[in-house]
Order: sequence, then C-alpha cells, then structure tokens
Amino acid sequence: MTQMSMSDFGHDRLPRDHELLRASALTMRFGGLTAVDAVDFTIPAGRVVSLIGPNGAGKTTFFNMLTGLYHPTEGELTFMGKDTFGRPPHKIAQLGMSRTFQNIRLFKEMTCVDNVLVGMHTKLQGGMLSTLLRLPSQRREEREGIELARELMRFVGIHSRHAELAGNLPYGDQRRLEIARALASRPSVVLLDEPAAGMNPMETAALEGLMHRIRDELGCTVLLIEHEMKLVMSVSERVTVLNFGKKIAEGTPDEVRNDPAVVEAYLGSSDGAVVADKYGDEVATA
Ligand SMILES: Nc1ncnc2c1ncn2[C@@H]1O[C@H](COP(=O)(O)OP(=O)(O)O)[C@@H](O)[C@H]1O
Ligand SMILES: [Mg+2]
Repeated sequence: MTQMSMSDFGHDRLPRDHELLRASALTMRFGGLTAVDAVDFTIPAGRVVSLIGPNGAGKTTFFNMLTGLYHPTEGELTFMGKDTFGRPPHKIAQLGMSRTFQNIRLFKEMTCVDNVLVGMHTKLQGGMLSTLLRLPSQRREEREGIELARELMRFVGIHSRHAELAGNLPYGDQRRLEIARALASRPSVVLLDEPAAGMNPMETAALEGLMHRIRDELGCTVLLIEHEMKLVMSVSERVTVLNFGKKIAEGTPDEVRNDPAVVEAYLGSSDGAVVADKYGDEVATA
C-alpha cells in the first residue's frame, strides 16, 4: 500500500450482506459466572447492526471476544473467512477489525492528530531500517498518514482541534476522536462500545449521521453497542438483544421493540426506568 486517502477507503470490501463475521455458540465464563452464554451472531457486510441489553448483559464481554481481548471459553469464531477463535487482538485487527472502548482510551498527553496516527500503525509499512534511514518512501508515508488523519478528523467533525491535546477535548469530542482513530486502520468493520455515553442530545443526533456515513462513504460495516435506545432504533438495520449473557431476541428495530421478552428484560432491570422514560409508549403498548 502506498497511497492513503479517503477516496480509496472502501476498496477490498465484501459485497453487501455477505457474512463478515460469524460467532457460533460463543461462550465466556469468569469462574462461576457465564457472562456470554452460547451466543450465535453474524455481522452482514455493509450494514449498521446493534447489540443491546441491560447493564451486565454481556455486551462488552462479547466485543472483547470478537476483538481478541478475551480468549473465549467455548464456541467458534470466524472473521473474513478466517478462524479467529482465541487469536490475539493485533492479528484480528490486521484482518480489518477495529473498535472503540466504553471507557475512552486515548493518549491524553498526545495531540489529536497523533492519536489518529497511532490508529494507523497496523497499516504503515515503514519498518525499523527505513525509520533509521528516513527513506523517502517512509517520509511520503508519514506525510500521507498525517493527511489522512486530518481528513478523518474532518470526517468525524473535530477538524479544528487537530493540534490540541486529546485530554483537553470535551467528552463528546474525545468519543469522536476515538472513532477517527478506530477508522484510521481502514477497517472492514468498526465496533463502537457505547459511543453516545456522555454526549449531549445534539452530539448524539450527529452520531446517527456519522454512523451512516461510515457505512455509505467509507464502506465500513458498523457494530454498535448502545444504551441510548432512540439512537439504536433509528440507526440500526438489525438489533440483537442480550440478557444475562443469552441472546433473547434479534430482528429489525420494530420487531425487537415489540418483543415481550425484550420489554420484560428492560423493565425488570435497573435500566427499566430509563427505557420506559425515553421509550414509554412503545414499551407500554408492546
Ligand atoms: N474480566 C472480567 N472478570 C470477571 N467478570 C467479568 C469480567 N468482565 C465482565 N465480567 C462480568 O460479566 C458480566 C457482563 O459484563 P459486561 O460484558 O461488561 O456487560 P455489559 O457490557 O452488557 O454491561 C458482568 O456480570 C460483569 O461483571
Ligand atoms: Mg459494557
């Protein structure tokens, strides 16, 4: 790879709805606790799909298995046609998966643009020798990298902040910076763990548009974990619901929101009040 620009961001993409990832009976146990219990799940290419469920349902644990942070206890996992069960995170990242974290993980003492450059490291070709010699090819790569980093910051809507330290950004902007960094490796799929957490309603509304642009303009599939039901229901093409580690429902937003098991899971949890509040009419009539 020599050229990095947004215009060729979408090359090497699977056709829409081809299976990007498949988890079969994926299970994670921590001692006596089964955090994820035999979950079957697929990600269709070119879509925005969501994983929801009450606090502690196993959503983040599921992400951690997909990305290799956790070694699953049991089950099967394939990504891009490769067996990725138990593979380390950097190997899975190289196949085209990247993520953000529920608790933001930025280098707060580094500038925003440098944070995005860090996300590019799986793709930069320059090795040790060319770094020492500062070969022209490597300088060009650096230049192109900075250019792409700035384009990505513009893409997520925080371009004016590129020279600021990441730690000085307001919370919502840090979330968007983390998304820019996740996109920097030009992944086939990006996993977003509660990106709207800490965002105000305006920022949350903008996030909906951003997810559609990630899909449509970058050709990148999106898997979203989200608490903000209004966002999930408006942005997702398919929703999967976990409760106590088990998949209890899956379907279009309309199918899922009218599913009695889902309504019960939410109303019976500590999140019930939140859901009923934002979502009361649909839940009440389901
Ligand atoms: N590293 C871990 N060690 C032990 N228990 C964990 C670990 N990670 C998650 N859990 C437990 O697994 C369950 C699911 O957690 P999590 O996946 O974070 O849920 P969610 O993201 O849906 O809120 C919780 O009971 C949590 O305490
Ligand atoms: Mg979580």
